[in-house]
Amino acid sequence: TKETAYDYVVVGGGTSGLVVAKRLSEDLSVSVLVIEAGDSVFNNVNVTNPNGYGLAFGTEIDYAYQTVNQTYGGGLIQTMRAGKALGGTSTINGMAYTRAEISQIDAWEQVGNDGWNWDSLFPYYLKSEHFQVPDEERTVAAHLPFDKELHGLNGPLKTGWNYEQTNSSLTSTINSTFKAIGVPYNPDVNGGNMVGFSLYPFTTDSTLHVREDAARAYYFPYQNQTNLKVLLNTKANKITWSQNSKQNAATAEGVEITSSDGTTSVVKANKEVILSAGSLASPLLLELSGIGNPAVLSKYDIETVVDLPTVGENLQDQMNNGLSFNAANGFSLADKTSYIAYPSVSHIYGNETLLVAENIKASLPEYAAQVAAVNGNVTRASDLLEFFQMQWDLIFTSQVPIAEVLVYIVNGVWTTEYWALLPFARGSIHIGSDSTANAVINPNYFMLDWDLQEQAQTARFIRKMYATAPLAGMVLDETRPGLDTVSAAADDAEWAAWLKSAYRSNFHPVGTAAMMPKEKGGVVDANLKVYGTSNVRVIDASVMPFQVCGHLVSTLYAIAERAADLIKKSA
Ligand code: FDA
Repeated sequence: TKETAYDYVVVGGGTSGLVVAKRLSEDLSVSVLVIEAGDSVFNNVNVTNPNGYGLAFGTEIDYAYQTVNQTYGGGLIQTMRAGKALGGTSTINGMAYTRAEISQIDAWEQVGNDGWNWDSLFPYYLKSEHFQVPDEERTVAAHLPFDKELHGLNGPLKTGWNYEQTNSSLTSTINSTFKAIGVPYNPDVNGGNMVGFSLYPFTTDSTLHVREDAARAYYFPYQNQTNLKVLLNTKANKITWSQNSKQNAATAEGVEITSSDGTTSVVKANKEVILSAGSLASPLLLELSGIGNPAVLSKYDIETVVDLPTVGENLQDQMNNGLSFNAANGFSLADKTSYIAYPSVSHIYGNETLLVAENIKASLPEYAAQVAAVNGNVTRASDLLEFFQMQWDLIFTSQVPIAEVLVYIVNGVWTTEYWALLPFARGSIHIGSDSTANAVINPNYFMLDWDLQEQAQTARFIRKMYATAPLAGMVLDETRPGLDTVSAAADDAEWAAWLKSAYRSNFHPVGTAAMMPKEKGGVVDANLKVYGTSNVRVIDASVMPFQVCGHLVSTLYAIAERAADLIKKSA
């Protein structure tokens, strides 16, 4: 017999959704349902293999969403990957565990989200984490950088280093090279100060040698709890609304779902509906439920329940490019570690930094006007200017990192993937039909001058790194892009031609149901409740108001942990 009413209905059993569901179900008197479109991937080797990054791409557990042609980004269509599985995108991601800068989490409160700052979020990073402390011998041999005080030891999510990293051979070489170009060693990237060279931990089970995803951390150990139920292979279509909605606030009655057998039904939510379908799905579900821009909704005959035009706006992602060099004499080809550096604007621009800072500052009003014009002034230039000034401050005053540079050897080739961390571009995602299919996704890659400059200057910085000893002695010629394609003295225009033909999504989309005051274009308030509703929240990457410098999951686990406490408090 099918139970049809639960206290909380969580849409999306992914990275964030499973945290919320597990924590809410700790109160055994509360019933929680998770609706997940994908299946269990507990035994899927494309998921479990801790060195299997990329194996799941293009398989049935990868949504592989397609963007529209990128007007500023070479006219290309980009693939934005996301996991369709219990555990969500944490089952297919690169497993990097790096948090954010103190000042950029503090910016969330500055913009008007009371209670969201580094000091209030930090305990939740620790609450979610089970840091597997490597033994001393390995720590010393591999120079593993960590400060135990900055890690949680008792949370559900296992983090640590994988076997290959604890056998790394190139740490000193790469550290010395970065030092020679001004980038210091960072003894732990996860304490809110990210600038420097480091070796980051992974979401990994160091004992079993399997990927640690959200389902392994937050669901499987608790799956026998009778008050926590998961419906797999089940798609949420939309929120259904109660006829007795409170005045001025729409009240969700439940969620319409389509089961694996094709039947459609409604599961009721006695207390709340929580959307955790990810930043490329939650805003679509809001629109399909009648929350959004009436001009978008009316195209598909969807009645407006809450007029909230910024649903799906503020989409922020990064562009990923790569440079490669042949290795000298097969040097250190056995090394299987990825090394990272987070340089600041001063590292990348050197003596030019002040000039660049002035130029960009003078450009901010124009950037804000451009973004507003492109989305038909749905987000206002005056609000965007405020956000851009905050971002300028992070880059040039706080000097947070402006690029992630990832170095590793693959098939005998030194490879460097990198992405400028803080482009100013904003895009959008909206429904393109009366279902989640055919969404119109537009990140506006390379939209603004800075976005291109930052990406080009980081490429020059990487060339400089490979030309600096001791690394310089281990590499031969540049194979990608190669000096025939982009000359040694290339200006931004020459770099642009190649960058825009060879980039991909960095798979870090955020902001599509942004947590901000309503008058600044927010979709959810500081309790992550959707404006104009009494019992609908969004808890996933959609709510992050601004991009962060770290990879996303560590911060998403922390947000979801804190959100669960906010819900418990309000109940
Ligand atoms: P998430 O995508 O995890 O969960 C959403 C869930 O909702 C999914 O399970 C989905 O199936 C489900 N769903 C969607 N629509 C539904 C519907 N209509 N009905 C029912 N269910 C529905 N981050 C990091 O920290 N380190 C890294 O190394 C990387 N690397 C990386 C690589 C790649 C290839 C990608 C794509 C992403 C990364 N990331 C990353 C980013 C990170 O993994 C990502 O931002 C988070 O996992 C997103 O978590 P969410 O909770 O927002 O959504």
